Amino acid sequence: MIDQRFIRNFAIIAHVDHGKSTLSDRFLEITHTIEKDKLGEQFLDMNVISKKRGITIKLAPVRMKYHTEIPNSNFQTLNKSQLQNSNNQNGLEIRNSDLGFTDAEYVLNLIDTPGHVDFSYEVSRTLAACEGAVLLVDATQGIQAQTVAHFHEARKQNLVMIPVINKIDLPNAQTAAVVKELISVFGFTEEEIIFISAKTGENVPLLLEKIVTTLPSPRGDSEKPLRALIFDAVYDEYRGVIAYIKVIDGLLKKDDQIQMFQNNAKTTVTEVGFFNPFLQASDTLGAGEIGYVITGIKDIRQCRVGDTIISEKFKVKSEKFAEDDKGVIVEALTGYTIPKPMIFFGMFPKEASDFAKLRESLGKLTLNDTALTYTEDYSAYLGSGFRVGFLGLLHAEIVKERLQQEFNLDLLLTMPQVLYEKEPDGQMREPYMLLTIYVPVAYVGNVMTVCQKRKGNMIDLAYHDTYATLTYELPYTMFIRGLSAELKSVTSGYASIDYEVADYRVADLVSVDVKINDNVIDVLSELIYREDAIALGREKAAKLKDSLDRQQFRQIIQAVVNGTIIAREEIPPYRKDVLAKMSGGDRTRKDKLLEAQKKGKKRMISTGKVNLPQEALFNLIENN
Ligand code: GTP
Repeated sequence: MIDQRFIRNFAIIAHVDHGKSTLSDRFLEITHTIEKDKLGEQFLDMNVISKKRGITIKLAPVRMKYHTEIPNSNFQTLNKSQLQNSNNQNGLEIRNSDLGFTDAEYVLNLIDTPGHVDFSYEVSRTLAACEGAVLLVDATQGIQAQTVAHFHEARKQNLVMIPVINKIDLPNAQTAAVVKELISVFGFTEEEIIFISAKTGENVPLLLEKIVTTLPSPRGDSEKPLRALIFDAVYDEYRGVIAYIKVIDGLLKKDDQIQMFQNNAKTTVTEVGFFNPFLQASDTLGAGEIGYVITGIKDIRQCRVGDTIISEKFKVKSEKFAEDDKGVIVEALTGYTIPKPMIFFGMFPKEASDFAKLRESLGKLTLNDTALTYTEDYSAYLGSGFRVGFLGLLHAEIVKERLQQEFNLDLLLTMPQVLYEKEPDGQMREPYMLLTIYVPVAYVGNVMTVCQKRKGNMIDLAYHDTYATLTYELPYTMFIRGLSAELKSVTSGYASIDYEVADYRVADLVSVDVKINDNVIDVLSELIYREDAIALGREKAAKLKDSLDRQQFRQIIQAVVNGTIIAREEIPPYRKDVLAKMSGGDRTRKDKLLEAQKKGKKRMISTGKVNLPQEALFNLIENN
C-alpha cells in the first residue's frame, strides 16, 4: 500500500487539440514510465480511431514514479501526531518539504480525458477521481469553450488547478494575451501560470515539480470500509469487465467479495493492479490509489462509470446508503448517472446479408461503450437494420467508423433524430440544451443572429477582455441541423461551444413523408417543426427527383403531412418507341401498339410498383 501523502492524482483538462496527449507523452518520457524509443506518438490515445482522428475518445490512466528534485528550502520536520492532525483534521496538505525529504519518490496518477463535449460525463467522472488538474491552454488559441466548461467542472469538484500555457514554441503564440485571459476569466495570478512546450519538452520538468508541490494528496481513510469510484470500465473477452477505479476509503485485494452500489451486481475480485500504462497486477489497492479491478462480471452495464464499489457484506438500503449487520453505514459516492443517448439514427447494412454481422458487431461495441444503445428496425426499402442511439454526432461518427474499419461493414445511416417525448394527450416534447458559446467580441452580433434564428433564448452574455461568453437555451435538434457549422462559419472558425442537456419542452412537430407513386419511402420520413415542413418537403421532393432516372412509367413524387400534399414533382416516362420496328404505315396496328403501351404503363403505376434504384436511395440518404 502506498502512503497517500506521496500520491498525486490529476488530470489534464483542455479544449480539443490544446495538447493534452502530447503533454502526457512528455510526462511518460521524463518519468521513464515509457522510454523514448518505445513512445509512439501520443501513447495514451491507444484507440485506433482516436489516433487517426487525433482526438481522445477513451480514458487511459497511467501511474508514473517521480523523484522530486526540489531544493529543500522549507525544511520543517513534523512528528507523527502532527502529521496525522494535519493530514486528516486540519485538511492541510503534506508536502515533501514539510517532511524533510529532498528526494522523495512520488506516485503520480495521470488520467487523460476526452476533450469533446459529447464525452463530458466521462470528464466529470475522471475529475471526481482526482485531487488536482493541469488546466492546459494553447498559446495560439487562448481559452475556448471547453477550457471554460472543464474549469467550472473542476472547480465544482474542488480540484486544485495549475494553469499552463502550451505551445510557446510556435511563432504565432499570443502568450501575453492568453495570460491576460487566464487572469480575467478564471482569476489566476500571473505567478501561478507555467509556460511550456509539450512538443519540445520545454519547462515540462518544472510543471512536474509544481504538480508535486501544489496539488494536494488524496485524503481517504484506509481504516474505513471500502469505497471505490469506477471512472471507466472496459470489457475483456477472457477476464470479463475490468473496472478502472480510485479507492477512496479502505483497501481492495484479490478474492475480496464486492458489490456495485447502484447496480447491486456482486462478484469476487480476480485481480487488482495499476496502469504502467499496461495492466500491472499488485497485492492491494489502498486509499488514494488509482488502479484496476478485474471483476469477472460479464456485462459491462453492471459496472457503470460513476458507480461505487463496496464490500459485499453491506446491504444497500437506499440509493445513497448501505449498512452491514453491525450497523456500520457506507455512503455511495455522489454524481452517478447513466449516460443518455441523445441522437438516434437508423443503421442499415448496404448488403442485406450483413445484418447478422452488424448485430454481432454492435453487440461487441456495446461491451465497451455503455452509452451506445440499439434496437431492431425494419425498412421496406432497406430491409432489416437497427435504430441506434448515440451521445452526440461525434459519437455516432466514431461508431460508424469503427463498424466500417474494425468489422468491415458497409453501412447506411438515415437522417438523425433526437429522442422526442410523447405526452398522453399526443403533444410532442423535445430536448433543450444550455449552450455556451465562446467567441472574440467582434463576432457576438453574428452569434446572436444565428441563435435567435434557431429558436434560441439568451440566458447570459458576459465579456472578458477580448472574448465573450454567450449562454443560450436552444432545442438540441439544432445540432443535427447544422448549428455547429453555421456558428463556425459566421465567426470565421473562432466560435467554440459547449452544451449540457437542460430539459424537455413542448414542440409543434409534424411528420413529413415522401411518396413515389403513392408509396411512402419509409426511410425518408422525418419529424420536423410545422413551420419548416413546406420548405423541407419541397427540398426533399426536388432532391428525390434529381436522383431518380426516368422509367417507362410516370413517377409522381409527393411530400405529405397528415395526408396533405405539401410538395409535388413529376418525372415523365420514357416513350419507348414501340413503332420503331414497323415499316410502312398500317395505321390500325400502330394504334393498337400504342394503346397496349399505355395500358402497360398504367398497370405499373396502379400496382404501385416503385422502381427505386438502390444507389439513388443510398445517395439520397447519405447526402441528406
Ligand atoms: P484531443 O485528444 O483531441 O483532446 O487533443 P489533445 O488536446 O490531446 O491535443 P494533442 O496532444 O493531440 O495536440 C494537438 C496538436 O498540437 C498535435 O498536432 C500536436 O503535435 C500539437 N502540439 C501539442 N503541443 C504542442 C506544442 O507545445 N507545440 C507545438 N508546436 N505543437 C504542439
